Amino acid sequence: MPDEPLVLGIETSCDETGVGIVRGHTLLADALASSVEQHARFGGVVPEVASRAHLEAIVPTMRRALDEAKVTLADIDAIAVTAGPGLAGALLVGVAAAKGYALATDKPIYGVNHLAAHVAVDTLEHGPLPEPAIAMLVSGGHSSLLLVDDVTAGVTPLGATIDDAAGEAFDKVARLLGLGFPGGPAIDRLAREGDGAAIPFPRGLTAAKDLAAHRYDFSFSGLKTAVARWVEARQREGTTIPVADVAASFQEAVCDVLTAKAIEACRAHGVDTLVIGGGVAANSRLRALASLRAEKNGIRVRVPRPQLCTDNGAMVAALGSHLVAAGVAPSRLDLPVDSAMPLTVVTA
Ligand code: KG4
Ligand code: ZN
Repeated sequence: MPDEPLVLGIETSCDETGVGIVRGHTLLADALASSVEQHARFGGVVPEVASRAHLEAIVPTMRRALDEAKVTLADIDAIAVTAGPGLAGALLVGVAAAKGYALATDKPIYGVNHLAAHVAVDTLEHGPLPEPAIAMLVSGGHSSLLLVDDVTAGVTPLGATIDDAAGEAFDKVARLLGLGFPGGPAIDRLAREGDGAAIPFPRGLTAAKDLAAHRYDFSFSGLKTAVARWVEARQREGTTIPVADVAASFQEAVCDVLTAKAIEACRAHGVDTLVIGGGVAANSRLRALASLRAEKNGIRVRVPRPQLCTDNGAMVAALGSHLVAAGVAPSRLDLPVDSAMPLTVVTA
């Protein structure tokens, strides 16, 4: 609707410079610049390189978003920006830019939580979120299960990874298999040619003794080590590594644990909607297995399209728009970045 607020969202917490624009809950623009290729030869995101890339990309990305949405900066009603969690130097670029734009246009600024934004983005595609819902956020930096009562008011963490994040495990295993960075998409592709049941890799924190203290927590570090040991043993013997089977079996172990715990969280809380977000939500096996298991339990799975799962500006704009609609007070113009922003905080 033309009278709904026009909200701009800026995302610079990791290696994607994103600027999104929404009117109400309708997506008008989602401009993105990525420095992923500059990190590839290091096998992971280099914070200093990411910060510099954001600095170079922020103004052109902003212009592209405004062009795409066919609006001017003066039309914008509120500016939302990721204030944390993320890489401090990278966050600073987005927050400084947002402050500049807010000051220049005299519009309110909302410093928002990156993870809450990953949940909120789904409303752009699938409409209002039933409350409460369970959200599973799986990215390069996080793997969490959350109980979401109201995305503008904070979420309740149910569990999280106790070591590596799911995406990190994909990236590390891909490196081990010589598949390059980022590893998730490469493993996803290769796994389609392999057998997910070929190798029985361990399912972390699913044994009865672990469930008592870690019912909704994840652990992927043991799995990564198991894959490394399995590959090394074949290398010592001089046998060829069935790379597609290793990729598929590793992926199956990750997706099995993630979906089992997510469905269990829904059942235990009497919740019928599971939202999956973060870069790993783009994984085809995760989507398929989650749908299969959810259907058996009468649970609806909502996963935004892949471009909205990975980091982007639209998700920040989406959360900003929810905050504006809920009448939440904006942040101060001197808002800080918080690289370890807790999930219970939605607005800085
Ligand atoms: O949410 P995101 O873009 O950035 C943050 O970490 O916040 O997630 C990036 C992560 C990387 O670890 C990448 O390997 C993983 O998401 N990823 C995938 C897939 N696409 C991206 N993992 C598994 N399967 C995929 N198709
Ligand atoms: Zn993210």
